[in-house]
Parts: sequence; structure tokens; C-alpha cells
Amino acid sequence: MNRLDMTELMFYVEPMQQSDVATVATIERRVFTMPWSSNAYSYELRANPLSHYFVARARALKRGLDARGLDPSVIGYGGFWLMLDEAHVCTLGVHPDWRQRGVGELLLSTMIGEAARLNAHVVTLEVRVSNQAAQNLYQKYGFAAVGLRRGYYSDNQEDALIMTTEPIHTPAYESRYNRLQRMLRARLQAQQPERA
Ligand SMILES: CC(C)(COP(=O)(O)OP(=O)(O)OC[C@H]1O[C@@H](n2cnc3c(N)ncnc32)[C@H](O)[C@@H]1OP(=O)(O)O)[C@@H](O)C(=O)NCCC(=O)NCCS
Repeated sequence: MNRLDMTELMFYVEPMQQSDVATVATIERRVFTMPWSSNAYSYELRANPLSHYFVARARALKRGLDARGLDPSVIGYGGFWLMLDEAHVCTLGVHPDWRQRGVGELLLSTMIGEAARLNAHVVTLEVRVSNQAAQNLYQKYGFAAVGLRRGYYSDNQEDALIMTTEPIHTPAYESRYNRLQRMLRARLQAQQPERA
């Protein structure tokens, strides 16, 4: 799979660091009704050998911690657990002010690329049945519904759709992925402020 060249793009993705956790947890509270705490993220980074977490940053925003200990450049995040040959996406969120600009796709495609590099065979996840925006994103990357977990979300007993990719090391999937990466790069390049 080809890695997306993020140089000179408005947004870029990097591995999450402990110094990002407070910001991630703050965004998480805006994004999810059952947010993970900063302790949970901190533990994942420190002590879970299966975990692979990333943050998306906006190049135009000042990087580094502000007086509140938050990093204004962090606008989204995502993570997966690698369990044997299966990558399980456990979280993906984009700050509401930065949605529909390709940031969620940049995060998801980075995670799929990283999962492939780590020799994962497939990528899987759960998503609320009502979450059409996320399902559209996942379908774009070849995820298909393979089952339902009834009442999975304890806040409203909503069902979770289980979605899984086809094997990601096939020529067909790699070609789909590489085509999507080219389109995403073109989309993100078109958003450069100086070209607007
Ligand atoms: C789902 C989410 C991560 C998408 O992030 P985003 O940066 O807004 O999405 P992108 O701009 O990268 O869009 C990529 C694709 O997602 C889908 N999508 C994103 N927003 C959508 C919307 N409002 N309606 C329908 N489809 C949408 C589309 O397929 C889109 O591709 P397209 O632009 O070619 O149509 C974001 O909406 C979010 O953080 N939601 C709340 C948290 C969440 O639901 N996380 C997933 C939990 S499983």
C-alpha cells in the first residue's frame, strides 16, 4: 500500500503522545456520549502493547501546550488494537469544527495503512446503527456489515453494527486503497489556504 505523503498538506497525522492526551480527552467529550477519560488514553499509550493511536493536526494552528495544557493543533484522533492478524478500530473522532474536510478519512486511512504494515489481515470495528456519517466513511474504505451486537451501547441500548474489510493485502484492496489515497491527497491539496 502506498503511504500518503502528508508534507505540505493542511492536515497531517502522527502517533499520539502522552502530551496529546489532555487535548484528545477534551475533544472526546465533545464527540462521544460515553467518553473515555484521559486516564484511559494515558493507560492505552503507556501500558497496552496492542494499541496504536494517532492524532490529526492542522498545520495552520500553533503546536504545543497552551496555558490550560491543551494543544490547539490537535483536531482529531483515532486508534486501533492489533489482535493477532486483526486490527480493531476502537476510536475515531474529529473535532466538530473540523469535520467534512477529509480529516476523518486521513485518520482512518492512516490506521488501515499502519495495520497493513503490521501485517494485519483485516480491519474491523463497531459503529452505532444510527451513525450514517461514520458508516459512509467505512464503506468508502471497503468495510461491510457482517453482524450486529444488540444493545451494545449502554447509554441508549443502541445496537452496534460490526463492520469488517475484505483482506487488505489483496491486489484488489490495495488498488482501491491507493486510488482513495490519491483522491484524498488531491482533496486536501485543494484545501490549502493559499490556493483557496
Ligand atoms: C465520522 C467522522 C470521524 C468523519 O470525520 P470527517 O472528518 O467529518 O469526515 P471526512 O471529511 O474525512 O469524510 C470522509 C467520508 O466520510 C463520510 N462522511 C463524513 N461526514 C459525513 C456526513 N455528515 N454525512 C454523510 N457522510 C459523511 C463520507 O463518506 C465522506 O466521504 P466523501 O467526502 O467522499 O463523501 C466525524 O463525523 C466524527 O468525528 N463523528 C463523531 C464520532 C464518530 O462517530 N466516530 C466514529 C465512531 S465508530
